[in-house]
Amino acid sequence: MNHPKRYLITAALPYANGLKHIGHLAGAYLPADTYVRYLKAQKRDVVFVCGSDEHGTAIPIQATKEGTTAQAIIDKYHPIIAQNFKDLGIAFDIYHRTSDPLHHETAQEFFTVLNNNADLEIKESEQYFDESANSFLADRYIKGTCPNCAYESAFGDQCERCGKSLSPDELINPVSTLSGNKPIKKATKHWYLPLDRHEDFLREWILKDHAADWRSTVLGQCKSWIDGGLQARAVTRDLDWGIKVPLAEADGKVLYVWFDAPIGYISATKQWAIENDKDWKPYWQSKDTKLVHFIGKDNIVFHCIIFPVMLKLHGDILPDNVPANEFMNLEGDKMSTSRNWKLEMQDYIDDFINKENGGPQLADALRYYLTQIAPETKDSEFTWKGFQDANNSELVNIFGNFINRALVLMHKLCKSKVPPLHVDLLDELDKATIAEISTATKKVESLLEQYKFRDALFEVINLARTGNQYMQKKEPWILAKQLDENGQITIEAQQQINNCLHICLQICANLAILVNPFLPFTATKICYLLKVVPKILEWENAGKLHLLRVGYTLRPPELLFRKIEDTEVAYQIEKLQKALETSKQESAAIPEIAAEKTIAPLKPEIVFDDFAKIDLRVGTIVSAEKVEKADKLLKLEVDLGFETRTIVSGIAMHFNPADIVGKQVSVVVNLAPRKMRGIESNGMILMAEDASGKLHFINIISDEE
Ligand code: MF3
Ligand code: ZN
Repeated sequence: MNHPKRYLITAALPYANGLKHIGHLAGAYLPADTYVRYLKAQKRDVVFVCGSDEHGTAIPIQATKEGTTAQAIIDKYHPIIAQNFKDLGIAFDIYHRTSDPLHHETAQEFFTVLNNNADLEIKESEQYFDESANSFLADRYIKGTCPNCAYESAFGDQCERCGKSLSPDELINPVSTLSGNKPIKKATKHWYLPLDRHEDFLREWILKDHAADWRSTVLGQCKSWIDGGLQARAVTRDLDWGIKVPLAEADGKVLYVWFDAPIGYISATKQWAIENDKDWKPYWQSKDTKLVHFIGKDNIVFHCIIFPVMLKLHGDILPDNVPANEFMNLEGDKMSTSRNWKLEMQDYIDDFINKENGGPQLADALRYYLTQIAPETKDSEFTWKGFQDANNSELVNIFGNFINRALVLMHKLCKSKVPPLHVDLLDELDKATIAEISTATKKVESLLEQYKFRDALFEVINLARTGNQYMQKKEPWILAKQLDENGQITIEAQQQINNCLHICLQICANLAILVNPFLPFTATKICYLLKVVPKILEWENAGKLHLLRVGYTLRPPELLFRKIEDTEVAYQIEKLQKALETSKQESAAIPEIAAEKTIAPLKPEIVFDDFAKIDLRVGTIVSAEKVEKADKLLKLEVDLGFETRTIVSGIAMHFNPADIVGKQVSVVVNLAPRKMRGIESNGMILMAEDASGKLHFINIISDEE
């Protein structure tokens, strides 16, 4: 395979407005880190950049909550988040920040180039303005009555009671949160990025050129956006927190946070180059660079549509892939900072890693489970029981156990030295097991190149499983009972033992190499036990049988992992419940919707046989688009596993097409086809309505997750 000359790998810049949870970790940072560690083991030229996203309204809003300034907020969270990543083994080459002057200059230069080339449009519009505060109002700074549920304190961008996304103009009786006064409408000028001019380019580049190598969930969202009609997006805001628009006529305006933040990847690369005496330009301007963005699905439009258009206009390279992950739920519910239903990196670090019985092995335990359940193709589910099982039955019982047994037996039966391999005595099982080492290596490699991290990790554990089975069949401890007349192990038996343990120890060394991208602390520990230098972890050594030299002494075994106890699981679940209670009390201010609706009369009873006629299957929405001239209808493509069907569903008023791509849904598959607006619908999506009239997909949580 021909490899690109260099790699620039990015992970979404987290907002420095609070602690980040493991959903963030699993979505972007962990897969990015795993990929980078693999590339580095391959000795490829790679730079891994990230940093804090410090603009936008998220920061001043948090400042108001904490009764402090925006600057104090970013100065508080930036270093904590950076340290959390370090503690979990996420090894960026640079963790920069968008408040840095270098970034301000870089973003302003970017804007200037686009503006000078007439790639931006200027438009005037009427926006809410608070006269007493002499300030335009960002969506979050306007409150009013929700048009959907009549809640009186809905925000200009969303109603916190019914969850509906809003625009400030939809609010009834809007008031400014700065002064409590009624805002007026005032004309203001903004700069727009006309995405509509780039539709042909986007169609070609995403839907044609990358149809085969991008994830289907990512392609599906992009297609929905493009088919939905691309519009000009404002790239400036009337705000005082952010990067000043570099034009005299734009006084009091800043760059929109989603304009400046992705440019942060470039500023971070520049800062890395300064610190390492390198040239940053080839990483962004040279065609032989492979750029990969790791993100969560809520960032897809920015990384696949908006930023690429900016990059193209600015003359930079485009991403080769954007392996976005779906979401990770927690114990049956969506992770949410506002509802306190989450596991923060900091909490995990405090409760497991920085404990007396903790340590870096527990960072790897989390990395293991999060990769094993990575939401690569659909939403997944973190449960404490699942974490315990993955740790205890796979890391402890399979992986750790294999390495431990190999070392224990080597010390006992081979005088604490790596035994020789008697090549002429190898039998079929020995040979097949040896062959497994290079087969596993090739599989892991190919899966990682395709960003299939969970499958790749499965193959690593599988090699340990193979090792265990091999040892179990060879039974060196039984061979050791074949004694000669002096009470010594017979020569023939010793040779068999040597071969078995030689092969097992070489598998251990190979496991260190293969597991290194996923569980770096474990790989280092195995090197220590095997008394080999970390250089052995270079990928070119994988699949080889001569990593450990015959006659070398090795260290006495130490356990690689510890068990997670039931009490720890119970403690975490209780902690989660308590946090939820606290947040419920805090948000008691948001009144629940009264169940005043009249209840529809119950339909007549049916017998089981009636019900059994319905064929229900689970499907994944792979694309969604509005049906022209039909407000209520969405046209969906649903992948059922055995085929993909077109289904027309009357849910357009409730869901944004882009938001439901990737969702798992229950589908009635044996309903007679029906034409709606000329489109044949081949099935029905099951939905349930809650008391507020909001529609929900019938949740699918599969057992295997
Ligand atoms: N801060 C954004 C978020 O947390 C991500 C920004 S990614 C970048 O959703 F590309 F803009 F940097
Ligand atoms: Zn509402």
